[in-house]
Amino acid sequence: MKRHNLLIVDDEKEILRSLKLTFSEDHEVFTASSGTEALEILQQQDIALIITDQRMPQMTGVELLKQVIQINPQIIRIILTGYTDTAALIEAINQGHIYQYITKPWERQDFRLVIRRALETYELEIENRRLLKELQAVNERLKIENTFLRTEINKDLQCAEIVGRSPAMQQVFQLVNRVIGNSATVLLAGETGTGKTLLACHIHSQGPRKDRLFIEQNCGTLPETLLESELFGYKRGAFTGAVQDRKGLFEVADGGTLFLDEISEMSPMLQVKLLQILQDGRFRRVGDNEYRQVDVRIIAATNKNLPVEIQQGRFRQDLYYRINVFPIYLPPLRERTEDIPLLADYCLKKKQHKLRISVHGFSEKSLQALCDYDYPGNVRELENLVERALILSTGDQIEPGEWLPVSMIDTGHRSRLEKMEQAEIRRLLELHQGNLSLVAKDLGISRTTLWRRMKDYRSLD
Ligand SMILES: Nc1ncnc2c1ncn2[C@@H]1O[C@H](COP(=O)(O)OP(=O)(O)OP(=O)(O)O)[C@@H](O)[C@H]1O
Ligand SMILES: [Mg+2]
Repeated sequence: MKRHNLLIVDDEKEILRSLKLTFSEDHEVFTASSGTEALEILQQQDIALIITDQRMPQMTGVELLKQVIQINPQIIRIILTGYTDTAALIEAINQGHIYQYITKPWERQDFRLVIRRALETYELEIENRRLLKELQAVNERLKIENTFLRTEINKDLQCAEIVGRSPAMQQVFQLVNRVIGNSATVLLAGETGTGKTLLACHIHSQGPRKDRLFIEQNCGTLPETLLESELFGYKRGAFTGAVQDRKGLFEVADGGTLFLDEISEMSPMLQVKLLQILQDGRFRRVGDNEYRQVDVRIIAATNKNLPVEIQQGRFRQDLYYRINVFPIYLPPLRERTEDIPLLADYCLKKKQHKLRISVHGFSEKSLQALCDYDYPGNVRELENLVERALILSTGDQIEPGEWLPVSMIDTGHRSRLEKMEQAEIRRLLELHQGNLSLVAKDLGISRTTLWRRMKDYRSLD
């Protein structure tokens, strides 16, 4: 047993000395010759057990122990009495104020045994409390993780409307209607900003899985091992830091939909794991031997040409066959210009609401300018353009102006604008610490376009 701090209280020096002798081999023993002195020591020391005489001049043992409870109810309280003090004692015992009483004179061995048992109880109690606290902390954390997960997962689940009247989009809608009611794996292909994420959300939220979770995971943003444990979960001890078992997104999304964005970025090892889960719904958590089964609908998205990725040896052909069950291609905005006015209006309404700025709409000229542009960032870029136009608008109609993309402006205007854009790119590069993907996303253009512009600017400098 570990050493504990004991406090012995008695007005007789002899008794203090003899008890100290009995216990100081195994424990740290503090002594006090009155209740007041004992209370002082209790304030300073972390006492596990107190032994007090009942009969003392100012404060009786029972009175002292009542105060000890106030200080710390966990301290084991033992009282020493003669046979004559029964009335006060019985009351104290009945009220739970003392743990045990020892009658004088005592047997040394018996006394040691009593103290030993009492301290064992004390240790158990402390351990229980510690465990209880730990359990509460774990529960708290789980609760937080759960709500975090749920809000993270469902925060955007009010999917925005999908706008489009062009034959190309009509065809997309037809395809979507074919998959909404079932659980077929869907592959969404298209340039950045064409609406892949939006469409995935729609497919989930209108189908039979709509009351279960829709979870999104980008396969291009995490290193392989992190993505693996994110998707498949892990067993406690699988790696340093895996202090407890954890579910992966496949399990969290069980019964619902898992949207795997930028699927082409998955590493070969994870492609194999994904292939298996697509084949028979089985997978293993990292570090676990046990196979688990889930029922998850997979929607994958890519802005790369997967057959090309296969040719280059970066994507598994067998996995491609598995996810290409139902491909839907979202055409770039420049190939469906008839949707531009519609989308521009829709975005304008949305942004007006968000920014609390109101205008009537676009002038003929500005609408024409919008339709003439080629939108490397597709609908996302259009959205950003409209937002900028709204912020910069002065009249009650939006006129062509500095919000238009650089390539659409006559040259006099252009150099000034290029400077502005250059400054903006620099600012974003700094903000995102050189991460081109994030900068491109903020600007609503593709990485290639961003790269091209940066090159142009470098030659201007
Ligand atoms: N047809 C559409 N109607 C209305 N809004 C759209 C449409 N297509 C896209 N959007 C909007 O454009 C923005 C970009 O769409 P989304 O994020 O779905 O594109 P994405 O193809 O997933 O892009 P990325 O490849 O960069 O992830 C979103 O705000 C989305 O709501
Ligand atoms: Mg997306």
